[in-house]
Order: sequence, then C-alpha cells, then structure tokens
Amino acid sequence: MRSFESFPFELWRYDGSPGELIPLLQSAQEHFGYIPRRAIETIAGVTSIPESSIYGVITFYSQFRLQPMGRHQVRICTGTACHVSGANVLVDAIQDELGVEVGGTTQDGLFTLFTVACLGCCSLAPAMMIDDETHGRLTPAAARKLLRGYRRKAEQEVRHEVRP
Ligand code: FES
Repeated sequence: MRSFESFPFELWRYDGSPGELIPLLQSAQEHFGYIPRRAIETIAGVTSIPESSIYGVITFYSQFRLQPMGRHQVRICTGTACHVSGANVLVDAIQDELGVEVGGTTQDGLFTLFTVACLGCCSLAPAMMIDDETHGRLTPAAARKLLRGYRRKAEQEVRHEVRP
C-alpha cells in the first residue's frame, strides 16, 4: 500500500466542477486499493462536500470499497443457471464459513467475498471462482472444504515463516 503523502494528483486539480467526486473516489481507490477514512476526510476538506455525502456515494456504488481487498477473491455466481442450482444456499454457506457478508473481507485479510452475475461456465452450475480458479457443481460442503484448504495453506505458510 502506498503512503498517504503521495495522494492521487487528481485531488489537487479539483476545480469544483460538479461530477468530479466519482473520479476522485476512483482515483483514491486505484491509489490505495480501497478508500481509507483519511482519503474521505481529505476529499471532504478539499471539495467541501460533507463526509456523510461522500459515504453515501461510496456505499451507493458497488465499485467502491471501504476495506482493503483480501488476499484471495471469492466470486460466487448468482446468475440464472447457478441460481436455479442452489447458488443462494452456497452464498449462505460461504458467508457462514468466512464470517463475512458479500462485499466483505475476512478479519485475517485472507478472503474478500463477491457475487457475480455469470462466470461464463453455466454448465458447471453452481459455480464460484477463487482468484483465477473456477470450481463448479459445488455443494455447500464442497465449497467449505475448498475454502478451508486455502486457510490451511495460509496457516502453514505462516508457521513456515516463523520457524527458525
Ligand atoms: S449463471 Fe453461473 S456461471 Fe453462468
């Protein structure tokens, strides 16, 4: 993550034109990977747009994030084919397994959870992707097992790093 001192230059070119808030937020997110509180305070200070309004815009648009992205991105398909094959049950099970809602990042920073409209592999419904890997014909139990595998691997890496 880059330091706050190198905040996106677009902020300093702000001339008060309407419609500049979204590009500023996009710029901040591109810079930090999410929109940190200090960025919101700074944008509010420069633009005189109340912080509450800025939060309103951030939470309205799904493209904006208030938390850093997790190490692994989990995308559950909720498109038609996956929906009729039980995607909702899968979403519930994965939210329960990870302890986060869709759009959230786990406390340990390992996973960020999303839903998507179609992964382009409808014959494998219900499907999800973890990073670049597609997993299809999933049951809730199979999805939990997969995620536990990722978690176990991360724990092993930590143990390996701390071992002298
Ligand atoms: S609807 Fe889920 S992969 Fe297409």
